[in-house]
Amino acid sequence: MRKILVAPSLLSADFGCLAQEIRKVEAAGADLLHIDVMDGHFVPNITIGPVVVKNIRKVTKLPLDVHLMIENPGKYVDSFVSAGSDMITMHIETISFAGFKKQAMRLKKKGIKVGVSLNPATPLAKIKKALPLVDFVLVMSVNPGFGGQAFIPAALPKIKKLREIFKGDIAVDGGINEDTALKAVRAGANVLAAGSYIFSAKNIKTAIERIRNVR
Ligand code: DX5
Ligand code: ZN
Repeated sequence: MRKILVAPSLLSADFGCLAQEIRKVEAAGADLLHIDVMDGHFVPNITIGPVVVKNIRKVTKLPLDVHLMIENPGKYVDSFVSAGSDMITMHIETISFAGFKKQAMRLKKKGIKVGVSLNPATPLAKIKKALPLVDFVLVMSVNPGFGGQAFIPAALPKIKKLREIFKGDIAVDGGINEDTALKAVRAGANVLAAGSYIFSAKNIKTAIERIRNVR
């Protein structure tokens, strides 16, 4: 059985004391640090750029899992790599297959793990060609843009179908709590990105353990 990895999403952290928030989730046993990059074009919100990632890199040893929700991601991947990203996810809605392939090969050469993500409304067929190029797929279970939204159940059959054809890691992102984590893991996901559930918990360590041990 695949190990379940928990990736706290910084979007729900207190940005006024980011270093402290990061140390908190690291000490609480997080496996990855999920960093949501939004450009105000692909999604209706603006968040973090490479300059912040560079400073995050200085305060943690956790692998930085950078989720690019931006148009024209190819233009920015190098800056995020130089900033210290370990994993980079691009949305299939934002790039051609040829563009994705080019970036994926470049990233792999640099030792960066590559992910492809798809929105709730995007069918699995859209990422099929990209699957042999990626280490993981990030299945969106909310429409990207904001933390704290409700899990969209249609993500579950999508994860299930994906698990049948894909051997790599399957991450799920959006609306993860104990209940939805269990459903997503049963469907075949093994990486749980979770923001509000973790950062609003009274005890962050318990929250992380609860979703890691759902099955
Ligand atoms: C949504 C982001 C998610 C988000 C998850 O656009 O990609 O990573 O932070 O937040 P929760 O877990 O609160 O839904
Ligand atoms: Zn995300």
